[in-house]
Amino acid sequence: MQALLDVYKIRQDFPILNRKLKDGKRLVYLDNAATTQKPKEVIDSISRYYSEYNANIHRAVYQIAEEATEEYENTREKIRKFINAKYPEEIIFTRNTTESINLVAYTWGNSNIKKGNKIILTEYEHHSNIVPWQTLCHNKNAKVRYLEVDNDGYISLEDLDMMISKKEDGKTKLVSLSEMSNVLGTIFPVKEIIKMAHEKEIPVLLDGAQSVPHMKTDVQQSGCDFLAFSAHKMLGPTGVGVLYVKKDILEEMKPFILGGDMIKEVHKENTIFNDLPYRFEGGTPNIADVIGFNAAIDYLNKIGMENIREHELEMTSYLLDKIQDVKSTTIYGPKNAKDRGGLVSFNMDGIHPHDCATILNDYGVAIRSGHHCAQVLMEKLEIVASSRASLYIYNTKEEIDILIDALNHARRIFST
Ligand code: ALA
Repeated sequence: MQALLDVYKIRQDFPILNRKLKDGKRLVYLDNAATTQKPKEVIDSISRYYSEYNANIHRAVYQIAEEATEEYENTREKIRKFINAKYPEEIIFTRNTTESINLVAYTWGNSNIKKGNKIILTEYEHHSNIVPWQTLCHNKNAKVRYLEVDNDGYISLEDLDMMISKKEDGKTKLVSLSEMSNVLGTIFPVKEIIKMAHEKEIPVLLDGAQSVPHMKTDVQQSGCDFLAFSAHKMLGPTGVGVLYVKKDILEEMKPFILGGDMIKEVHKENTIFNDLPYRFEGGTPNIADVIGFNAAIDYLNKIGMENIREHELEMTSYLLDKIQDVKSTTIYGPKNAKDRGGLVSFNMDGIHPHDCATILNDYGVAIRSGHHCAQVLMEKLEIVASSRASLYIYNTKEEIDILIDALNHARRIFST
């Protein structure tokens, strides 16, 4: 029985969960850290936009254009509330978390990072929170420094304190880290990290791709300066990301994509840029999917982010408990489910993760195998890849049991 959410009722809202795979198998979808499934409400809202009020936004005065603009801007306001930002102008729509981080690196980074400066990341970052900073630092003759992650999947605040200590003071210009690791599952103490960084007047960027979909986010409470996340990992469509930036910082940032909609006036020799946040949304945006994201936020709000977190905690404890009994399996990240989000990465001795995922596919179980776009962490763990099962609101203990059966089956195949 599911104690916290009515998971069986929730599942009925997701058409894909009812489909049958080859040989009539049910789909056991455990790759939610890569992307989540979409409820009917989201699919319908996109379809409604195209069938009833498809028009470009911010440009025309006719009825359907006004309806489209209103729905698009309603989403911005809904996201503002969802993450408790102070102003809707602080919410910028991008394509995904990667683009959000690139936007900061390209605009804020180019203006603020100088020769000899440092940017602090962690060893568990996703490539999207490494490559933009590495490239910026190469171009600027600045340095990227990594906070180490220990064998249990934690970082040390003492290490951070040393890295931004008096001796180094003035050199570190940014701390940029994921609130939750997409491989280890660790949830990091970002509030303390932000407090420590702010005491040294260092801004902090949070990559919220894995955390925002799974727990309550409050940017005013955490105090982060930048937050990036993606709609598709939280029931919304692909192709929509969010960048939150504190208004006083955003006001100083130069635009990113130049062209239509991000301008007020264009003359032969000069351009006057638009107000916030439109200055950062050049060109026709992904209107349909932003509107679909609105429905996803409604769905999450209806369930409640605290309930989602509780459900995932219960499922993760169950998964950790069961997977420990699968012979010769190494589990990465914290042992305590409370320190984790809803995902578990593992390796089985003598079985390559891709082989493991292929055998699981025979059971209808979808998990991800590979380096998870976190090769710096893979190097640290001295592995090239892992398997990863990741959960969301519609997953059940029965599905975890199917996963465990399939893993035991893989174990048997590879030991004969
Ligand atoms: N970043 C996504 C993942 O971890 C794609 O799978």
